[in-house]
Amino acid sequence: MQKILAIESSCDETACALLNEKLEIETSIVTSQIDVHARFGGVIPEVASRMHVEQISTIIKEALKGHDMSEVSAIAYTIGPGLIGSLHIGAIAAKSLAFFYDKPLIGVHHLKGHIFVNELIEPLEYPLLALVVSGGHTELVYMKSDHDFKILGTTLDDAIGEAFDKVARIMNFGYPGGPIIDKLAQKGQVTYKLPSPKVDGYNFSFSGLKNACLTLANKLERNNETLNKEDFAKSFEEVALGHLIQKLKLVLNDYEVKHVLIAGGVAANSRLRELMKENITKQKLTLPPLKYCTDNATMIAVAAFKELKYGNFVDLSAASRSSLSIEAC
Ligand code: KG4
Ligand code: ZN
Repeated sequence: MQKILAIESSCDETACALLNEKLEIETSIVTSQIDVHARFGGVIPEVASRMHVEQISTIIKEALKGHDMSEVSAIAYTIGPGLIGSLHIGAIAAKSLAFFYDKPLIGVHHLKGHIFVNELIEPLEYPLLALVVSGGHTELVYMKSDHDFKILGTTLDDAIGEAFDKVARIMNFGYPGGPIIDKLAQKGQVTYKLPSPKVDGYNFSFSGLKNACLTLANKLERNNETLNKEDFAKSFEEVALGHLIQKLKLVLNDYEVKHVLIAGGVAANSRLRELMKENITKQKLTLPPLKYCTDNATMIAVAAFKELKYGNFVDLSAASRSSLSIEAC
């Protein structure tokens, strides 16, 4: 049976997983650096790289516990997009293993991982529309097959996860902002008036909303008023998530789509999941379980099986890329 050993290190999680061709997870280890970065209010790239260096050997050893490299058919790793220093650590580890054990090497696009991990839940049907929402991306990806990716819409400025994190920082909620705002919003009401983004076509924009939050924070400080955290979180979330749903529905109006899914860290958001269920009634809908929303290596292994199917291997000189379009990979 074919098995892929996959490594993910594109941001602040160091992860390694062993997955077999039946898509059964044999092992999956993830360590997060969130606690360390929380002290700085965001991911510090240099710190992330150093921590990957410290963690990666242990994580790989852990993932191989009870297994042997002779079982492994190929080594996969995240080739991009992501923090370049972090990507390099995973790439070096994967290349060293591939070289030493003479295994084929597969470079996986990070967002393909976020999308294809949904195959662990149910088969994907095409044409498929993926709403990719993470700390670095907000994209509407249209797929006619498992190797045909078209970006219909993307953010013109901040990614949605980045907006959650930055707004949480402005309001001193802590890091990462996404889960904190999600939790606060569950107890809040829409009472703060925030502007809905206005962008043409299927694209997104979150910087205007972020700036409106900054203006609100400054006004409250000037007037010595306190923020109702729950109500603010709810008000922010409804505008930000409403923008996602509006664009998603625009695409569904214009394109033939059989299956809709959400992918990436923000897919863990409880209100977004609710809104998806309310709004996607004519297509098959997959909402990934929370453990598959944020970064992990299982998702890289699932996507690597696709690359294996199409014979897409990379050699030891392959360069990691901090920015890399899913259409070009
Ligand atoms: O996919 P991911 O783990 O890393 C990237 O590839 O970017 O996504 C991380 C992002 C962060 O911005 C985090 O705040 C956000 O996902 N996030 C959430 C939730 N959980 C994580 N945003 C909103 N609601 C959540 N429950
Ligand atoms: Zn991610």
